Amino acid sequence: MNKRTKGESLFPMWLFFVYLGVLLLMSGIHSGLLLGAAQWGWGSLTQTLSPIFYWAAVAGGLTVFTRYRIRITYEEPMLRLADATRRVAKGDFSVYLAPIHTPDKTDYLDQMFLDFNKMVEELGSIETLKTDFFSDVSHEFKSPLAVISGSADLLKKSPSLTDRDQKEVDSIRDAARRLADLIQNMLKLNKLEKQTIRPAPSVFDVCAQVCGCAVQFEDQWEKKNLDFEADLEDSAAVFADPGLTELVWNNLLSNAIKFTPEGGTITLTQKTLDNWVEVSVRDSGCGMTDETIRRIFDKFYQGDTSHATQGNGLGLALVKRILELSGGEIAVESQPGKGSVFTIRLPRPDGQEALV
Ligand SMILES: Nc1ncnc2c1ncn2[C@@H]1O[C@H](COP(=O)(O)OP(=O)(O)OP(=O)(O)O)[C@@H](O)[C@H]1O
Ligand SMILES: [Mg+2]
Repeated sequence: MNKRTKGESLFPMWLFFVYLGVLLLMSGIHSGLLLGAAQWGWGSLTQTLSPIFYWAAVAGGLTVFTRYRIRITYEEPMLRLADATRRVAKGDFSVYLAPIHTPDKTDYLDQMFLDFNKMVEELGSIETLKTDFFSDVSHEFKSPLAVISGSADLLKKSPSLTDRDQKEVDSIRDAARRLADLIQNMLKLNKLEKQTIRPAPSVFDVCAQVCGCAVQFEDQWEKKNLDFEADLEDSAAVFADPGLTELVWNNLLSNAIKFTPEGGTITLTQKTLDNWVEVSVRDSGCGMTDETIRRIFDKFYQGDTSHATQGNGLGLALVKRILELSGGEIAVESQPGKGSVFTIRLPRPDGQEALV
């Protein structure tokens, strides 16, 4: 703390005089009680008990007072700080902690709040810089990538290519497609984070949507000889943005297929709860360690740090953001070698939303 704050004295005079006054008052009342008891002819039991009750009442008052002071001067500011820290940890950099006292009475807690606000402001500007850089670079990549893809497509049609040339062209097209996917995901995530895409919720049948997405992966699960099981209701209405929830199912299904070895099982279940529709994607794949589970929603995080598996680690970051914006929830259970289950909850429509 570079700026000296008030309230640092070890011997505040005002507190000394308050205590002195209170103690004199208390002992004065105590002496008065003893003298009065003798004068008013109280019985010996009353004479014994009255000072005990008196001091018990004083102790009770002091306990309440001390507790109250601790609560307002220490506990409540600390709880506010803890809550703000939690929000910053979740990526909310708009947090501001108002100091408790006016500037002329700033104490160490106020100073801590001011330093915290400064830190959050700095973090927020770094985040803005990062996301702007992210989106600028992605945009700049788009046009050269379109040229590479277009030229590779043209080249592919050339009759003079040898088999080896064809393979080279295929790998150029494949790399260009993967780069295009990455850029598309980066831009989408960026827009969701900066809230330039706002969800447009409507009421729709989530069962039909999940089935539609699953069917699109049929080739992939058949190629890996995976057993695909589904246990869904006939229909279930949710209130969410169908364009965004589709991305959720696609990401979860592609992960389940990607991380399950040949001959494994993928199970899709859905049920309707009081306020939610719950969809689970379970796989019998490689599973995850606790450390991986903690980080799967981070951008660019891949459990396999060699990045040998396809993808860029953006899928679940997108899924998480979409669910935050849709008022939904996601939970993960997994054990290494035993598979994983991702459970999504989306809000059911209430009467009014059904009219949207
Ligand atoms: N069903 C799963 N089984 C085991 N590990 C998983 C599963 N789903 C996700 N993971 C782990 O979480 C990491 C992050 O997943 P995420 O979907 O964000 O990225 P990705 O699939 O690697 O790439 P992308 O989604 O960008 O194509 C994965 O790399 C993997 O380590
Ligand atoms: Mg993925």
